Amino acid sequence: MTEVRVFAPATVANVAVGFDILGFAIDRPGDEIVARLNPDTKGLRITEITGTGNKQLPYEVEQNTAGVAAQRLLEHLGRTEIGIDLEIHKRMPFGSGLGSSAASAAGAVVAVNELLGAPLSRESLLYFSVLGEQVADGSFHADNVAPSLVGGITLIRSNESLDIHKLPVPENLQVAVVHPDIEILTRDARAVLDDHVALPTAIRQMGSLASFITALYTDDLPLLGRSLHDYVIEPQRKQLIKGFDDVKAAALQRGALGCSISGAGPSVFALCDSGYLAQAAGQSMQEAFARYGVDSQLYVSPINQQGVTIL
Ligand code: HSE
Repeated sequence: MTEVRVFAPATVANVAVGFDILGFAIDRPGDEIVARLNPDTKGLRITEITGTGNKQLPYEVEQNTAGVAAQRLLEHLGRTEIGIDLEIHKRMPFGSGLGSSAASAAGAVVAVNELLGAPLSRESLLYFSVLGEQVADGSFHADNVAPSLVGGITLIRSNESLDIHKLPVPENLQVAVVHPDIEILTRDARAVLDDHVALPTAIRQMGSLASFITALYTDDLPLLGRSLHDYVIEPQRKQLIKGFDDVKAAALQRGALGCSISGAGPSVFALCDSGYLAQAAGQSMQEAFARYGVDSQLYVSPINQQGVTIL
């Protein structure tokens, strides 16, 4: 094989109840990454980046999330001498809370691993993808990378040891994700967070997380709805998202099970128990943003179970 093209899905991290330890993948949007053997060169090069609008992404391997992820993998495999050209086709906005940099990193390691005959398992590629994403936001957390790479709803017991677990997905679960035309860098959204959580707040949050996981295992969507509350992060970050309270209220009024910030924001997600409700809740959320003069895009999707796919 001399060329591999992959699709890496967008992700919703945190999922209201699991800051830095929970995330799920959605069917679209996502990034496409191409890795191609180049017999005339040595080493990894980034040869094409498209879909970035008026933004610039670095072509220098060591400054690019996909480049770093692929390079660390090649070093691990002892294959840095091999000539590989990488193309990155961005199909989702930056600073959107949809895991854009994580998708590029996850896509790059799968494409390069496949090009070399798939020496490593999907799970073993996680470490290299997280190293890539770390270039973008400065911190080491797998809550976007893991679901983009392996699909589904993923729980991370420990970001240090990358002990990750795929959780069951209730059959009817659908998600509406609304991306408002506001840009928030993860680095900035992390900077607003207080390091300390009061004990009563921690207790409520632990209850939410535990009952959310219980709801997934018992296919209990009403319990899932009652569990989907973020007492720690959402109150601190919501002021970065114009109109957030009204957008959330709009989703809940249209029957969403729950609604919160997707990753570091500004995207907002709502979990629903049918595709019809997700579409309706998403449109109401868009209308609420519009009342604040904010344009937005809506994505309605089931939970993506595949993760990165080879095209
Ligand atoms: N858990 C991360 C955060 C996800 O909320 O900062 C964004 O990369």
